[in-house]
Amino acid sequence: MNISYDDVQGTILRGYRVERARHFILRIDDKAGAGELILKLVDGQLGLPPITTAQRGQQKPVHFLNISFTRVGLSRLGLSDAQLQTFDASFYKGATDPGVAADVGDCDESAPQNWIGGLSDGSQVHALLSLWVDGGEEQLESASATLRRAFSEYGVAELSAQNAVALPDNRVHFGYRDSIAQPTIDGAPPRKRSIPDDQPSVATGEFLLGYLNESNGYYSLQPEELSLNSSFAAFRILEQDVAGFESLLQTYAGQLGMDAEMLAAKVCGRWRNGNPLTLMPNDEGSTLPPDQLNAFHYVSHDAKQDDTLGLKCPIGSHIRRSNPRDGGVVGAGSPSHRIVRRAMPYGPEYDPNQPDQQKRGLVGYFINASLSNQFEFVTSQWILDSHFVKSATGPGGSEQGNAFFNISGEDVFLGVNHVDQSSFTDARPGHKGQNNKLITGFPRLIHTRGGAYCFFPSISGLRYLAQLASG
Ligand code: HEM
Repeated sequence: MNISYDDVQGTILRGYRVERARHFILRIDDKAGAGELILKLVDGQLGLPPITTAQRGQQKPVHFLNISFTRVGLSRLGLSDAQLQTFDASFYKGATDPGVAADVGDCDESAPQNWIGGLSDGSQVHALLSLWVDGGEEQLESASATLRRAFSEYGVAELSAQNAVALPDNRVHFGYRDSIAQPTIDGAPPRKRSIPDDQPSVATGEFLLGYLNESNGYYSLQPEELSLNSSFAAFRILEQDVAGFESLLQTYAGQLGMDAEMLAAKVCGRWRNGNPLTLMPNDEGSTLPPDQLNAFHYVSHDAKQDDTLGLKCPIGSHIRRSNPRDGGVVGAGSPSHRIVRRAMPYGPEYDPNQPDQQKRGLVGYFINASLSNQFEFVTSQWILDSHFVKSATGPGGSEQGNAFFNISGEDVFLGVNHVDQSSFTDARPGHKGQNNKLITGFPRLIHTRGGAYCFFPSISGLRYLAQLASG
């Protein structure tokens, strides 16, 4: 089935590549007013372009707008509880639910009760309106002023606005180049600045409701008007301790007999310039051309190319945990658990020569058709656990080791990493991992400062909701 791009909210299928973003966290006080506001946004009647769709225009616009709702928000607009119970089970519970929070590592300081921007009380968070601007501060502020006038006119309260600003060269705050690997989605518009990869494309239904998914089924919900072309997302505000990360590299690199940059590459799976360790295992080199940056697998019959054991790219590195590609995992493999990442940095760039206490991190959406089977699965089973790796030997046989023994602890980036439990394995050849080196005792580096589980309706779904609320 062809996707009607003009019925799909743009951020699901397109990366906008912009300078800055602002996410408005909203509470709906006036149901009918919110209905009118949704319609004005969809039709572009506020002096801003209409809600951005996946249909590209001739020219790149300055403003991009997308809107999503929480379960409480949809209930405010008039959906019944019986209908909402047909939605993704985790979405129904919401990001502040204690069980959900525990599953994704939102504990201790990162627990929902400590979240900022009004996100700590899930009952008050109804909608997220995201504005992306390919331009300067002025353009962001003037578009924000227009939206804020509309919020007060239509009875919508702004709980907070979460800003993001791109860093040079698409970097994130730990200094790595980002936005390289994204799933290729069947039927989606081709990525403009395409970074091809040779992983299998992923069934449309993993990202849009109403299409066949990787399990040959369909994610759908009631009412039908909201089912086709919609999607779910985890909105996250993730604060990064950059000084802590640099100090980890300095402290532990020596223990592993490598320099800090090599350890930085090992914990991520890519060098800071974006080159994958699988292709560049020994040194960073100059950045590979785009068509090579993502063209790799972990398993090969060719001994030179094979990395079953994670001797080049550790099995516990961030990219290998969050997408094990063809590496053997317990249960369904990678294609069933891919995620579209639409997050940008916030806060000023960190200068190691002038360490400061400013808040900085990553904010945005992790998009999928099933929060339970994608975002939550990846986080709880792969990022926060190390028991998902199947027993496997490489072309060198079991004397070289077994993948099963070559991972420990949680993701160095995203793990909860209590100091008495944290651990990262640098695998070395040897029977049952006997020569492996482990680093332990490092602290948590990324803290959750906010989150919400969101539903992105299709454009026709937005019209349906507008009518429901106004009616
Ligand atoms: C502040 C938090 C985070 C940082 C600093 C970070 C950093 C990175 C970096 C540097 C890459 C490599 C660039 C690329 O392949 O495009 C990457 C890839 C990736 N990250 Fe994260 N990430 C963060 C949060 C998350 C979260 C919350 C998830 C999902 C639960 C996630 C899932 C992924 C995935 C799926 C990939 C691509 C892996 C692949 O296909 O090879 N990341 N991340």
